[in-house]
Amino acid sequence: MGQAESAAMAVARAVSQERLWQRHMAIAQIGATGRGGVNRQALTPEDTQARKRVLAWAEARGYEAVIDAIGNLFIRRPGRNPEAPPVVAGSHLDSQPTGGNFDGVYGVLAALEAMEAADDVGIATERPLETVVWTNEEGARFQPTTMGSAVFAGALALNAALAATDSAGISVKTALEQMLSSLRITRHREFRFPMAAYLEAHIEQGPLLEERKKKIGVVTRIQGLRWFQVAVFGQEAHAGTTPLRLRRDALAAAVAMIGALEELMRDASDTVRFTVGRFEVFPNSPNTVPSRVVFTIDLRHPESGMLAALGDRVEETCRARAGRCDVKVVETLNAAPTVFDPRIVELVRAASKRQNFPSIDMVSGATHDAKFMARLCPSGMLFVPCAGGVSHNEAESARPDDLAAGARVLAEVLLKLANG
Ligand code: HGY
Ligand code: MN
Ligand code: MN
Repeated sequence: MGQAESAAMAVARAVSQERLWQRHMAIAQIGATGRGGVNRQALTPEDTQARKRVLAWAEARGYEAVIDAIGNLFIRRPGRNPEAPPVVAGSHLDSQPTGGNFDGVYGVLAALEAMEAADDVGIATERPLETVVWTNEEGARFQPTTMGSAVFAGALALNAALAATDSAGISVKTALEQMLSSLRITRHREFRFPMAAYLEAHIEQGPLLEERKKKIGVVTRIQGLRWFQVAVFGQEAHAGTTPLRLRRDALAAAVAMIGALEELMRDASDTVRFTVGRFEVFPNSPNTVPSRVVFTIDLRHPESGMLAALGDRVEETCRARAGRCDVKVVETLNAAPTVFDPRIVELVRAASKRQNFPSIDMVSGATHDAKFMARLCPSGMLFVPCAGGVSHNEAESARPDDLAAGARVLAEVLLKLANG
C-alpha cells in the first residue's frame, strides 16, 4: 500500500466520534428553541456565535481563517506546498426557523474533524486542507437559498445579494457588516479562489439510507431547483360594504393562482417537488380586503427539461388568474441539475467500501452549496442517515456512529486528494 493510502487510512481511523458528537451538541445550544431544534438564521447574532465557536476550535489548532465579501468563511490547515490550490470541505451553520441540529452543521464539523484527526496522528498533506462555512445556505431569512456559494461561484451578483432584505426590511449588507465587525477576521479572499476539489458531507434529509440499511449515500447528482417570488397587487376595501364586483382582492387572486399552479405541477410519478412555503398578506386584517399578497415558489426536478417546461409556465399561470389584480413574478434562482465529477464519486464509493460501510448511489433531493462548487472544481457529496429522513424540523436527529462513519469516509477522500 502506498504512503498516501496508508496516511489516508490512518487519518480516517483517527476521527473521534466523541469529539464530533460533543461539538454538535455545543453548536446545538446556539439558537436552541427549547423544542429540540434551533432557530439560527443567516447573519443573526446566533449565526455569528456559531461561527465564533468553530473558529475557537480552529484557532486552538493554529489554523488560519480568511473570509470573503459575502461572509463565506475558510479555515486553513497548511500543507507542505502553500501555493497549491487547497482541498476544501464544508457546508453551512445557518438554519431554518424550525431547524434541526445536523443540517449543515455536520458538513462543517466533519470537515474540521478530518483536519484535526490528521493533526492527532501527525499526518502532513501536500495541499492545504480547508473547512468552509458558506453564508446563508438556507435562504429562509434572505432569499435565495445557497446565497454565499452562488456569489462565490459567480452565479449571483454580490450587489444583488447584499441588497436582499428580510421581512423586517434589514438588508444582507447591514446584517453582514454586523457579523464581520464581530468576527474581526482581517484576511480576505477573492471569489472563485482556485481549489483542487470540494467535498460536502450532509445528512440525507430523506428516508432512503435508513430504509435500505445503508451507512453512506454516494451522491452522484443534485436535482435542479427554481425559486420564484410572486407579488399580487389589489386594493384595500371594507369587508362589509364592498361588493364583489368592485373588489380587487389580492388574496382571492393568489389562492386561485396557487390552485392553478398545483394543477400544473400535478405528477402521477410524484417526482415534481412544488412548494409554496411563504405566504404574506397585507394589511392582514380580518375586515379589510387584502391589497397585497407575496408568496414564494420552490420548484425542483431531477430533469432539466421538465424543470424548464414547468418553471417557464409559472408566470403565465399566475397572470391567467390575476383577475382585476396586478401580478409580478420574479425568478430568484434557477439552478440546473448538478452532476458530480465521477472521479470524486468513485473516491467516496471506494472509501466507503474499504471501510466496510454499506453505501448506495443517490440523487440529492435537497439542494446544497456543492451545486455551485461543481461549476468550479471536481466536487462531490456524501450523505449519512437521519432518523426517519426528517429534516427542516426540530425533531431532526442522527446517530453518533453514523456521523463518525461519514467523517471517516470524508477524511480518507480528503487525504487522498490532498496527497494525490
Ligand atoms: O432547500 C434545501 O434543499 C436546503 O436544505 N436548504
Ligand atoms: Mn443543508
Ligand atoms: Mn437545509
